[in-house]
Amino acid sequence: MQLLKLASVTAITLYSLYAYPCFGQVSGPSLKTAFQQDFLIGTALNGRQISERNEKETQLIIREYNAITPENVMKSGPIHPEPNLFNFEASDRYVAFGVKHGMYIVGHTLIWHSQLPSYVQHIRNADSLSHFMKGHIETVAGRYAGKIKSWDVLNEALEEDGSLRKSIFLQLLGEDYIAKAFEWAAQADPGAELYYNDYGIERPEKRKGAIKLIKSLQAKGLRIDGVGIQGHWGLNGNNLYDIENSIIEFSRLGIKVAFTELDISVLPHPSGVTTADISQNYAQDPKMNPYREGLPQAIQMAQAKRYEDIFKIFIKHKEKISRVTFWGAHDGQSWLNGWPIKNRTNYPLLHDRDLMPKPAYTSILNLKTK
Ligand code: G3I
Repeated sequence: MQLLKLASVTAITLYSLYAYPCFGQVSGPSLKTAFQQDFLIGTALNGRQISERNEKETQLIIREYNAITPENVMKSGPIHPEPNLFNFEASDRYVAFGVKHGMYIVGHTLIWHSQLPSYVQHIRNADSLSHFMKGHIETVAGRYAGKIKSWDVLNEALEEDGSLRKSIFLQLLGEDYIAKAFEWAAQADPGAELYYNDYGIERPEKRKGAIKLIKSLQAKGLRIDGVGIQGHWGLNGNNLYDIENSIIEFSRLGIKVAFTELDISVLPHPSGVTTADISQNYAQDPKMNPYREGLPQAIQMAQAKRYEDIFKIFIKHKEKISRVTFWGAHDGQSWLNGWPIKNRTNYPLLHDRDLMPKPAYTSILNLKTK
């Protein structure tokens, strides 16, 4: 047994020397240093990363990123599971991680139609739902006042055509729920920036709906500091014009623009349309999971070019952009391995499953260092 243990320690040590010379001292500029004059560079953190379970992952995260977003631990279901019960253990650990490592700490998300606690899903009267909303926002945003720098106050309140999503909030409270969410968030944490966050709002039709929502808040004298364009995109590069126009048009409202959940899927989407509606799921099909054995070099390079083209636009408009956050630190953690089809092997992020930088990482870094 001792011999086996010695062999495994040796193997890990040799890997460390290969992957991270001098035990984790990766040489060269990191993403956060390369873009330090432009915008924050962030990543979403899952529960294991928040708990620093894997030293190599922790080293990668603190080396490359200066902003963090909780992938799941601050959603209303996990954090407010019963009417009079809040579960702050994981969210406190998340904020503590950010404070410990000097990160810009993002809160995600106060009001979202998805991941609601089951008791909320069964509410049928307006007063009860309003009571939940107010108590949730005051308690959660109030708890982290002074530590969380920016809240995704409201997430995904729009349909694909830009109309308001017919969520339980709209059905019971009418569109005024949106103003109430931002009013209560501003009262609970006057120091945090307040964002509206959504996917697909780079597309003109849905973008118009987001602009209307933002202008409506501003017309009521309510504070909204920024808009989060999630950025769940694919290899198809036909949206660069829309991405640039959305930065320009949102910025004209006098608010900041953040790209809050960036990833580039390399797998086919069953419906053909790239969206991020978490409620979508499709049956498993081998044709939809073509890279189980690994990602071909040609696809690696296509993804690298796609990220490079997107970041050229970000750099061009860097004064309008507050933050670019990737929806994960490496391919192995990505939600896209399980959506919209379960158990696929996707490669959407900048580091691979062995925590090694991919050509996409190098292509972005080269924009600032070459
Ligand atoms: O924690 C439970 C675990 O206890 C349980 O055993 C397991 C079995 O179902 O579920 C676990 O919760 C899962 C959670 O991720 C944590 O892993 C949920 O089922 C699963 O639905 C949830 O998926 C997350 C999804 O949002 C829905 O909340 C993804 O990880 C997360 O990447 C994704 O992120 C969203 C953003 O918040 C908003 N924008 C779209 C983006 C992608 O959908």
